[in-house]
Amino acid sequence: MSFRNVSKEALIGTITLGVVFVAGYFFGKKKPYRIMSISKSHSGGKDNPLLQYVLNHSMREHPVLKKLRQRTMEDSWNIMMVACEQSQFMANLAKLIQAKKALEIGVYTGYNTLNIALALPDDGVVVACDISEDYTNIGKPFWKEAGAEHKIDLRIQPALKTLDELLSSGQAETFDFVFIDADKVNYDGYYEKSLQLLRKGGIIAIDNVLWGGKVVSPAPDDADTVAIDKLNKKLHRDARITLSMLTVGDGLTLAVKL
Ligand SMILES: C[S@@+](CC[C@H](N)C(=O)[O-])C[C@H]1O[C@@H](n2cnc3c(N)ncnc32)[C@H](O)[C@@H]1O
Ligand SMILES: *[C@@H]1O[C@H](CO)[C@@H](O)[C@H](O)[C@H]1NC(C)=O
Repeated sequence: MSFRNVSKEALIGTITLGVVFVAGYFFGKKKPYRIMSISKSHSGGKDNPLLQYVLNHSMREHPVLKKLRQRTMEDSWNIMMVACEQSQFMANLAKLIQAKKALEIGVYTGYNTLNIALALPDDGVVVACDISEDYTNIGKPFWKEAGAEHKIDLRIQPALKTLDELLSSGQAETFDFVFIDADKVNYDGYYEKSLQLLRKGGIIAIDNVLWGGKVVSPAPDDADTVAIDKLNKKLHRDARITLSMLTVGDGLTLAVKL
């Protein structure tokens, strides 16, 4: 496994998140109220009986998604994978708004990309943006096995470039659903360009908006936390959208375009 294609920021952010999860877990043993994140089912949430109950009573994971999740757990960066319960929620949302065109910004092994692709009609498409072939190559055989390969349009280059290309090829206002989950310092750029690409009533889901709890008091030299906190504040007063900030996983903001 090599990480040479992956931005330093994304990796450092992920490592930090891992440390926060582990720290949160040990803190949580004595003082549960100090846990600053809700945790994902596959990292930090394993010993949470209530989360287990939620999973036991709601997960309807496609068999190939389950295989992809298990394969991804063998990768050392599996903390980057979206929580299965959050992904199922987003697939439900995509169905609810009858999405046909979706964008995934930050694919990793494509667990969520595949979940969304499966929720789209046969002529639907997920434009999937990542800079790492190493990660996305892990997912590709599973996309094929699930019969969703033809709905996934993978673009290996910086996501901002892909978004610019979509805009300049006349695809503004045509997307139904966007999931932003790549490098945090570019979140504002991803949000602004996604909002242009989105149709009215479309949804942008933004991951990691709580960043392991660090948003409560961002260190000035912590670029990732500062970027997330800045975007959170901007969205709160953004008249172009309605919003909800959910405490699922590491925090998920839903922005609906007006
Ligand atoms: C948190 S992971 C994505 C997880 C994924 N959404 C899932 O469902 O499991 C972040 C991904 O963003 C990618 N990434 C980092 N910087 C990027 C950039 N500038 N453009 C596109 N992708 C980037 C990384 O290679 C990594 O695969
Ligand atoms: C969840 O399901 C597993 C497997 O069936 C079971 O062992 C566990 O006790 C269940 N936990 C809860 C909280 O429902």
